[in-house]
Amino acid sequence: MIRTPICDLLGIEHPIVLGGMGGGHTQSSMVAAVSNAGGLGTLGCHGRGGDQIGEDAAAIRGITNQPFALNFLLFLTEEEKFAAALETRPAVMSFAWPDGDQDIAPYIERSHDAGCKVTYMAGSVAEALRGVRAGADVIVAQGTEAGGHVSWMASMVLTPLVADAVAPVPVLTAGGIADGRGLAAALALGADGVLLGTRFLASDESPIHDNFKQAIIASDGHDTALSEIPDLAAGIVWPGAMSRGRRNRFIERWSGREWALRQHQADTLAGIMAARGSGDIEEAPLSYGQDAGLIDAILPAGDIVRQLAEEAEQILKARLPGLVD
Ligand SMILES: Cc1cc2nc3c(=O)[nH]c(=O)nc-3n(C[C@H](O)[C@H](O)[C@H](O)COP(=O)(O)O)c2cc1C
Repeated sequence: MIRTPICDLLGIEHPIVLGGMGGGHTQSSMVAAVSNAGGLGTLGCHGRGGDQIGEDAAAIRGITNQPFALNFLLFLTEEEKFAAALETRPAVMSFAWPDGDQDIAPYIERSHDAGCKVTYMAGSVAEALRGVRAGADVIVAQGTEAGGHVSWMASMVLTPLVADAVAPVPVLTAGGIADGRGLAAALALGADGVLLGTRFLASDESPIHDNFKQAIIASDGHDTALSEIPDLAAGIVWPGAMSRGRRNRFIERWSGREWALRQHQADTLAGIMAARGSGDIEEAPLSYGQDAGLIDAILPAGDIVRQLAEEAEQILKARLPGLVD
């Protein structure tokens, strides 16, 4: 079995974390399935009300007694929801995407006061150091190949840069990891584990429409694009990032015509909500990473954790030692 310092720090068996995907991309059964399998499940709190966060935490605890995390997008965090999350006393609070001038230390201090460990996601060395200075216990180095909002550096380069810069603070690699090869590679690059989004979107417990799961299965990994169009349509100004998702008809229609989208924002958003409900993969923005090309089956989330751990162990035990004379 692969064990790294992060396993003891977060109280988990395998160094594998479910990304806290907000906006209805995670739910309690998915979080609990990952935690029950020995990983760390994370609920994305963006888009959930304070009461709902309390109910979700209770639902997770109804299925598992293992640690789990609650995730917040710092630039959109509302006090009432944050306070409600801390009241549930999760084992881990997970943060990402502050505004450039936002003071993040109080969020981390209050999480520590509530007895939580804290992870902080960064797409650059400077962001990683910002998280460490504010007191984060774990840095998530997120590469640009990831699904959702990303920075510009690839995981392959960012992981060792961040690991060197923040040592001895442990690092998780996010972006582009969908199988045991990715976990083994991340460990070789100096990470203590991995955080996955796209792979878990195509799980039985994922709340997204089945058509969206099928689109991930069908993807060869070459069909994503970075774009501000989904945020423009949602009326959100993201601090210094674009989002990676499927390059579908919706994205192609508005590319280069962002000025026109601003004029039709309300109608466009209504169209997106309808398309999301009906599972229209051409008209709803669908965030996923380049690693969609590595995913060819919808699996129970717990099996994903176990398979990843077993595959990585085989690579480290059987394949790699055989390459050393
Ligand atoms: C649909 C979607 C929504 C996401 N929402 C969030 C979020 O609310 N908070 C966050 O910290 N990360 C979010 N992420 C990023 C993930 O936490 C993670 O960094 C990323 O999915 C890792 O790359 P991968 O998709 O290649 O596994 C999201 C990713 C996706 C695909």
